[in-house]
Amino acid sequence: MIDLHSYSYPAFSPSLLAADHSRLIEETQKAERLGCHFIHIDVMDGHFVPSASFGLDFVKEIHDKHHMVNDVHVMIEKPWASAASYVKAGADILTFHFEACSDGTCLQKTIAAIKSAGGTVGVSIKPLTPVEAIFPCLNEVGLVLLMSVEPGKGGQSFIPASLTRLLALRKEIDRLPFSKRPILEVDGGINALTGPACLKSGADLLVAGSYLYGHSDMKERMDAVLKGGR
Ligand code: DX5
Ligand code: ZN
Repeated sequence: MIDLHSYSYPAFSPSLLAADHSRLIEETQKAERLGCHFIHIDVMDGHFVPSASFGLDFVKEIHDKHHMVNDVHVMIEKPWASAASYVKAGADILTFHFEACSDGTCLQKTIAAIKSAGGTVGVSIKPLTPVEAIFPCLNEVGLVLLMSVEPGKGGQSFIPASLTRLLALRKEIDRLPFSKRPILEVDGGINALTGPACLKSGADLLVAGSYLYGHSDMKERMDAVLKGGR
């Protein structure tokens, strides 16, 4: 299991969803060359969210073509059933959706499956789920992923209410002893305006797809957001 506290924050986790899908290995290695320590891989099953994207085979293919943390975000139904397979395929962080677990038993089953496969557990919430819903499991996970758009596609606009949600999560996370604090990640609509606002509201890790990929100044775009720190 990786130690997420050994990395420095704030940082970006570029989302491959917005990369050129005809040259994903190069696009991944580009992020590493530009100094990233995380790469975000969105898995969609066409059920939990309407679209389908990368799957298990892609995680297997890409995980060892670079030295970054494989930050895998699964937007799938019944995550407990395949969580261990994703970790074995190379997901260092396996982030599943709280909403995909109908009760505490499913949630615990998913957390246990990821941990026993040797992965770092991430839990994600959609924009309409109260942040308080995940407070009881904060001390059992390594990462919290706050969705700042409805999951399912890239290029959407940031939902402004996400900032107060980040603040509330930051406050609750900081009640835990440092070593037990999950990393706070935010995903959706991150750009030169919303990125700094998220950092000020307590985010550690920014997922960004359309803001970064497809632009020749990807490095400058990251620096512009990170320069102010948190
Ligand atoms: C959306 C995905 C995101 C997506 C973000 O469901 O979870 O990771 O790639 O895309 P942008 O940064 O374009 O909003
Ligand atoms: Zn994502």
